Amino acid sequence: MTTTELAGTTAIVTGASRGFGRAIAAALIARGARVAGIARDRQSLDEVAGDLGDAFIPVAGDAADPDLAGRLVADHQPRTLVLNAGATPIAAPLSQQSWEDFTVNWDSDVRQVFNFTREALTGPLAPGSRVISFSSGAAIAGSPLSGGYAGAKATIRFLSGYAGAEAARRSLGIRFVSVLPQITPDGGVGAPFVTAYAGYNGVSEEQFLSGIGAVLRAGQVGDAVADIASDDAYSSPAYFLTATGIKPAA
Ligand SMILES: NC(=O)c1ccc[n+]([C@@H]2O[C@H](COP(=O)([O-])OP(=O)(O)OC[C@H]3O[C@@H](n4cnc5c(N)ncnc54)[C@H](OP(=O)(O)O)[C@@H]3O)[C@@H](O)[C@H]2O)c1
Repeated sequence: MTTTELAGTTAIVTGASRGFGRAIAAALIARGARVAGIARDRQSLDEVAGDLGDAFIPVAGDAADPDLAGRLVADHQPRTLVLNAGATPIAAPLSQQSWEDFTVNWDSDVRQVFNFTREALTGPLAPGSRVISFSSGAAIAGSPLSGGYAGAKATIRFLSGYAGAEAARRSLGIRFVSVLPQITPDGGVGAPFVTAYAGYNGVSEEQFLSGIGAVLRAGQVGDAVADIASDDAYSSPAYFLTATGIKPAA
């Protein structure tokens, strides 16, 4: 097992103002990295900067904007790129969704991962860099109340895998990993769906959560991402993240 020091390195974390992204930024900073944290709402980012200190560099912007991706990768030359930002789809069955509702995660999550991944490959990032993209357990199980979310997240897993194969063929030394967290109320994307799926199944939220086992916490996601970023033993292209740990998904 080879571990790489993150001290003195730079990371970019998208969606760093709350939920998983904030916990990831905190975990990377705890290991000595500087983190450029992206979200659209400047005030929330400034609050995170107040908590995490000077190692957190707030960057207000839309992570799906291709110009922002190009500029940030060029400016920061990140050793670690965490593509976590994601939209919360409406919780409704298909018959109650518009096309705009159905495709929200394609326009934000998939577009963001596409733009940053292309920048990582064309730059290219330095050998030894890591690009960690947020898919979801829903990419395997489906999610009938969240429109195109599961398909968008499955595409992110494919996209990360394609990039990993291209990086290997070009001997770039960049590792691309997708992560598939289980649903949890510990984040803005999962919380409304714990409520929605409890209702869908006619059970309480507590019963729904006990049915999926121990609850995954944002802090565990932060530590898991920092482990995957720094330990070469995590050599799989994709990992499930659950409350019981990190498990290869491929
Ligand atoms: N929570 C779960 O149960 C769960 C399970 C599986 C996978 N995931 C995935 O994990 C990731 C994080 O989820 P979460 O629950 O932690 O979400 P969250 O609490 O809602 O946080 C989302 C973060 O992304 C930012 N964001 C959203 N759209 C953005 C955009 N276009 N540009 C820049 N920033 C943007 C938000 O800030 P602004 O709104 O200010 O931009 C916020 O910082 C998502 O990709 C989600 O799909 C979550």
